[in-house]
Amino acid sequence: MYRTNTCGELRKNNVGQTVTLAGWVQKARKLGGMTFIDLRDRYGITQLVVDASAPADLIETATSLGREYVIQVTGKVLERQSKNPNMPTGDIEIAVEKINILNKAQTPPFTIEENSDGGEDLRAKYRYIDLRRAPLQRALALRHRLAQEIRTYLDGQGFMEIETPYLIKPTPEGARDFVVPSRMNPGQFYALPQSPQTFKQLLMVAGYDRYFQIVRCFRDEDLRADRQPEFTQIDCEMSFVEQEDVLDTFEGMMRAMFKNALGVDIPDPLPRMSWYDAMDNYGSDKPDIRYGMKINEITDLVKGKGFSVFDGSEYVGAIVVEGCAEYTRKQLDELTEWVKRPQVGAKGLIYIKLGAEGIKSSVDKFFTPEQLQAVADRCGAKQGDLIFVLCGAKRKTQTQLGVLRIEMGNRLGLRDPKVFAPLWIVDFPLLEWDDETQRFYAMHHPFTAPKPEHEKWFYSDKKEDLERVCANAYDFVLNGTELGGGSIRIHNAEMQQRMFEVLGISKEDAEYKFGFIINAFKFGAPPHGGLAFGFDRVCALFGGQETIRDYIAFPKNNMGRDVMIDSPSLIDKEQMEELFLESKAK
Ligand code: AMO
Repeated sequence: MYRTNTCGELRKNNVGQTVTLAGWVQKARKLGGMTFIDLRDRYGITQLVVDASAPADLIETATSLGREYVIQVTGKVLERQSKNPNMPTGDIEIAVEKINILNKAQTPPFTIEENSDGGEDLRAKYRYIDLRRAPLQRALALRHRLAQEIRTYLDGQGFMEIETPYLIKPTPEGARDFVVPSRMNPGQFYALPQSPQTFKQLLMVAGYDRYFQIVRCFRDEDLRADRQPEFTQIDCEMSFVEQEDVLDTFEGMMRAMFKNALGVDIPDPLPRMSWYDAMDNYGSDKPDIRYGMKINEITDLVKGKGFSVFDGSEYVGAIVVEGCAEYTRKQLDELTEWVKRPQVGAKGLIYIKLGAEGIKSSVDKFFTPEQLQAVADRCGAKQGDLIFVLCGAKRKTQTQLGVLRIEMGNRLGLRDPKVFAPLWIVDFPLLEWDDETQRFYAMHHPFTAPKPEHEKWFYSDKKEDLERVCANAYDFVLNGTELGGGSIRIHNAEMQQRMFEVLGISKEDAEYKFGFIINAFKFGAPPHGGLAFGFDRVCALFGGQETIRDYIAFPKNNMGRDVMIDSPSLIDKEQMEELFLESKAK
C-alpha cells in the first residue's frame, strides 16, 4: 500500500497514529539540526519533520530531497509545537521514521505556489507542472463539480445524454471549420462540429424528446480571453416545447449550479430584457447589469443646433459617469484616444462636466448652458458627474457607448467578479443585414424559427419586412458575457427551405449542405427548441475570472497552439500522400 492517508487529511485526533503518506516535496528546509519538509498532493500539504536525533542515513536522505521529488514517508503523527492556523493540517506534523524516494525530479522551471514566478509561455510549456498549483486545481475541481451538478439536474429532468459524431459536415455557426482529410475518400474532408446543432435536432426527429451532452466543439476563429478553438458546450434540446419551457428548465439548472457550487441564490425568476432594450440601454446584446450608467438618447435635444457633427448624425447618445466631473484634461485626452482606437472606432469623444465651476463641455461654443443642462437632466446627471457623448449611425454609436461603458465600469471598479447578475436576453431579430455582402445572415443560426406572429414578414420579399422579423431566440448573459444561447427551431421543410432562400443560399447548395435535415423534417419532425451554454465560460465566471484558459486542463495559446506538445505540426510526406495532400506553405 502506497499510503494510508492523503496530505490533506490528518488532524489533531490522528495524533499518535503511524501513517504512510506519498506526494511531492513542496519545499525542504533545515532549522537547527531538524529538517522540515512540506509534502504536497492534490488534497493538501502536510509538514514532515526529521529530528536531529534520527539515524544518520535518514537525515542524509531528508537533506538530499529536492523540490518536486516524489516520496513516500512513514512516521508518527505529532501535535505541533507552533501551530499554523492557515493550513487545515496545521495542528500536526509527522515525525518521519522512513523515507522512500519514489522518483527524483529536476528543479521545476518555476515555483509551484499560489502565484508562480513563471511567465505564461513557460507555464504553458510545462502545463503538467503548472497544473500542480492550487489555483489550477481549484479551477478544475470547480469544473468537475459543475459538470456533476449539470448531469444530476438534467438527469432528474428526464434528459438523456447522447453522444454525437465529431467527423461530420460543416455546421453553420458562423466560424470557420476545422477539417479532416479522409484517406478512404480521396480529396474529401470531414468538418469537425462547431456545435452538434443538426444532430440534436435529428435526435428530436428520432423522438428522444430531451437530449443533452457535455460536448467538445471546434471553431477556427480569432481567439480571445473567452474563446478557444476547441471548447465545451452543455448542449441541450427539447421537443414539444415553447420558449417559456426552455427558459424555465435552464433557469432551474443555473439556479441549482449557483446554489450547489457557490452557495449563491440568483433572482427567481431571472430578469429578462429584449434585444432592442439591451442595445438601446446598454449598447450590447450581453449587458453587464451589475451597474447602471445606461445609455440615453439625446438626438432630439442636440441635433439642429448648428453643431455640424451632431447635425450630420442619425443618433446622439450619452452615458453618465458618476462623480468624475473633476477628470483632468489629460484623463479626457487619454479617453478620447482610447475611443478612437480601431477596436472602438469612434471619431471623437465629447464631454459635459457638472463640476464646481458650473456646467462645462467640449462643445461650449455650440450650446448654451441651458441646452447642456437639458442634456444633463435627460440623462439624470447630477452635480459632480461627467457625461460622455458619442454620435453617428444608431446601432454603431450605441455599441461604441456600450464598450466605453464597460471600460468605465472596469476603471471605476464597478465590475466585482463576486457579484453575479444573470439575465435572459430575448426577442432577437431573426436576421441581420450585412452591407458589405448585401445579404442577410441568421442572427443566431439558420435553424431558428421566426416568431409565429412574424411569419407574414418572413415570407415577404421586402428588406424592411425581413428586418422586422423576430425569433424566439434567447441568450443567457452573466456579468457582460454571453454564457449560452438557443432558440425555438424550424421543424418544417418548406420553412427551412425559405430560410436558406432568404440567406441567399441556392436550392442546390442548400440541398448539398443541408439536404439531410430538410429531408428529416419531411418524416414527422416535432416542434422543438433548445440551447447551449459555453461550459468553459460558465466555469470561469463562476470562478470569478473572465479568461477561460485556466478552466481547461490543456488549453491552446493565442495562436491556437498547444506549446506543450508543439501542435499543430508538420506531418510526414508519406502521410500527406496517403491523404492526397500537398502543402503550399513555405
Ligand atoms: P452559440 O454559437 O451561441 O450557439 O454557442 C453557444 C455558447 O458556446 C460558447 N462559445 C464558446 N466558448 C468558448 N470558445 C469559443 N470559441 C466559443 N464559441 C461559443 C458561448 C456561447 O454562448 N448550436 C447553438 C446553440 C443552440 O442554438 O442550441 C450554438 O452553438 O458561451
